[in-house]
Amino acid sequence: MSSSPILVDRVPELLTRTEPLSPSLLASLAVGPDPTIVELPAGTELHSLVASHVMKHASAARSFGMRVGSGNSRCCDGSDSEDDDDAQSRVATKVLGLGTFEFTFESAKIFAVHHTLGEVVGTNCSASLMRTLVLVSDADISALVRFCDHLIASADACTGNVFNIFRWHVQHQYWHKAETAQARPVESVVLPAELKSKLVDDIADFAAPATKQWYVQHGIPYKRSYLLHGSPGAGKTSIIQALAGRFKRNVCYFSSLSHPEMTDDGLKSAVQRVPAKSILVFEDIDAVFTGGRGKKDGDKSAVTFSGLLNALDGVGGSSGQLFVLTTNHRERLDPALIRNGRVDMHVHFSDATSEQMRMLFAQFYPKAEPALAAAFEEALTAELGERTVSMAQLQAYFIQMRKRPAEAAAAEVKKVMEEVVTRMIREDEGAASDGKTQPGEEAAAEEEAAVAGEEKKEPQKAAAAAQPSKEVHVHVHVGS
Ligand SMILES: Nc1ncnc2c1ncn2[C@@H]1O[C@H](COP(=O)(O)OP(=O)(O)OP(=O)(O)O)[C@@H](O)[C@H]1O
Ligand SMILES: [Mg+2]
Repeated sequence: MSSSPILVDRVPELLTRTEPLSPSLLASLAVGPDPTIVELPAGTELHSLVASHVMKHASAARSFGMRVGSGNSRCCDGSDSEDDDDAQSRVATKVLGLGTFEFTFESAKIFAVHHTLGEVVGTNCSASLMRTLVLVSDADISALVRFCDHLIASADACTGNVFNIFRWHVQHQYWHKAETAQARPVESVVLPAELKSKLVDDIADFAAPATKQWYVQHGIPYKRSYLLHGSPGAGKTSIIQALAGRFKRNVCYFSSLSHPEMTDDGLKSAVQRVPAKSILVFEDIDAVFTGGRGKKDGDKSAVTFSGLLNALDGVGGSSGQLFVLTTNHRERLDPALIRNGRVDMHVHFSDATSEQMRMLFAQFYPKAEPALAAAFEEALTAELGERTVSMAQLQAYFIQMRKRPAEAAAAEVKKVMEEVVTRMIREDEGAASDGKTQPGEEAAAEEEAAVAGEEKKEPQKAAAAAQPSKEVHVHVHVGS
């Protein structure tokens, strides 16, 4: 009782705010007696979209905040340098400061009041004040809705040779535009010709207007799902980014499945709110659930296996969503997760095939004779014997040789082996610490053969690609 008077006086005032702006502040704006008011609390997607629009378009904006951002983001904001050397460096980036700003949309005058509300509160990181952005205008609410729709559409648009990367913000529950990236040409991702054209043609066919009509006519959700599985460093992430560029899509990475605050509802919202025209990517889908649907040790999220299935089923509706799961261990996935309907096409990425070795050589040495690429492939294949090499390792070799002529790169293939042997040792250690087969792994491997939509495995190399890690597993079982 003794400490209550101050709190009792103040709490009702804080909890019962009925106006987005104080009457005196509202009266100071050049608007009529009955303006339209829209309030956008901080931490919402529209708050950040409107704030960045206001900062760029408000005439005479003089109040800013400043944070450290990447040179990329400043460049993508449309300000400052295009110097490539600066592109990755850390730079000061402007954000909207507190104050009142004025701008126009469709010739309607709009005021944006960026202010704090209430008292300082403690958060996990620091003391913090609640910020809101209030739009005030004599225009009708429909004009402000159009304004916000316009910002959402521009944020989602992929123009030119760039695409947007979004990441799900678990606490604030929205797709945060993390960066704008340069699209990689599909040609630069070296894959067996059949595999690449199968993937590219499938997406092109899916995106055709007639296909949409067909899906709608038959009452089938207009979405397409792919499972990219196989060796690490084989080009799964690279091809996703290349496809985003080719098909003018955003890439939305959902990498928060094991986030401690992730729930089934959060997952569902993420899927439902995914930006238009995007590729929704769940990377390393085997990371959370064991083959037996149980959660992996140490996983702290509240997401359940059925929550994941429901979310995947809810993807897309009629919006033509593309949706990609990636894994290095398809055999560890529960068959329900990758059954027909949830995954329409399985695409296997192996270590480098002979064709890929020649093609990658030609990509790094475009002027070299095809015979030299063939000589490189032959020498490397002989050196490898039963072993295989990943595309990422081959890329590392070409980077190492970048100042050397094609002839040297074709001759010094022994250097590739250093990387290959290092990887085998790493895998050996990894398998030893695993110590046992994942639950459900063997059953899933049997199921694997039956999964519909499977493409033909790469002939000799794909089979060989699976060998080193499987040998390691057998070795460990026998030893333990
Ligand atoms: N098929 C490929 N063609 C060209 N470059 C490749 C290819 N595969 C991998 N690379 C190169 O190797 C690096 C790693 O590739 P990427 O991230 O696409 O592999 P990943 O299959 O996604 O691996 P992980 O399973 O570990 O996620 C990239 O720098 C990429 O340029
Ligand atoms: Mg990857």
